[in-house]
Amino acid sequence: MKENVFILNHPLIQHKLTLLRDKNTGSKQFRELVSEIAMLMCYEATRDMPLKEVEVETPIAIARSKVIAGRKLAFVPILRAGLGMVEGCINLVPAAKVGHIGLYRDPQTLKPVDYYCKMPSDMPERDVIILDPMLATGGSAVAAVESIKRYNPKSIKFMCILAAPEGLKVFTDAFPEIPVYTASVDIKLNDHGYIVPGLGDAGDRIFGTK
Ligand code: PRP
Ligand code: URA
Repeated sequence: MKENVFILNHPLIQHKLTLLRDKNTGSKQFRELVSEIAMLMCYEATRDMPLKEVEVETPIAIARSKVIAGRKLAFVPILRAGLGMVEGCINLVPAAKVGHIGLYRDPQTLKPVDYYCKMPSDMPERDVIILDPMLATGGSAVAAVESIKRYNPKSIKFMCILAAPEGLKVFTDAFPEIPVYTASVDIKLNDHGYIVPGLGDAGDRIFGTK
């Protein structure tokens, strides 16, 4: 595995991922699980945030203690399915802003079709974490990074719940400098570009559209 790919094998993430894969998990529980997994993954993906020491007065004495050193984050979900990951992340980092990028995969060509992009105005000051549960062929993730790079963010990370080896290779070949956080690298893509064993269509399962 490439050194910039982090497989988050925390037991809570892996347990929740198993429930997410289950075809009998309904939309309500699916949404809750996506949000919980995103929060746990965000905890890991923000490990390198810099800290600074400050003084704080406890009821007993003055303590020297640490706070995050002014790092500004932006979460950028890829619509639609990435929306399911926003709540968990923003609960953890309430000061973060949220950009949106609209892409859908053409079912015939499997190529991403771009339909929306709205970023915070101060992107050059922000570290971006892109959110999408699925990295399949990698087309959507690569297109999202290309769009976001035009806004000159300080840095970009990519966070997905499942990755296919094919898409991971496409992405890391295109952007070796961008860290990828995932809960699993599955076996392969099928002929329709779905991850095997995967979890099915993430957008449809989150929003109940099938
Ligand atoms: C899914 C998923 C990713 C994309 C991954 O979105 O959420 O964005 O497919 O596939 P890729 O790596 O082959 O590009 P989809 O196109 O189904 O749109 P939706 O989220 O609106 O359902
Ligand atoms: N998009 C999904 O939602 N699921 C897959 O398995 C592949 C792409």
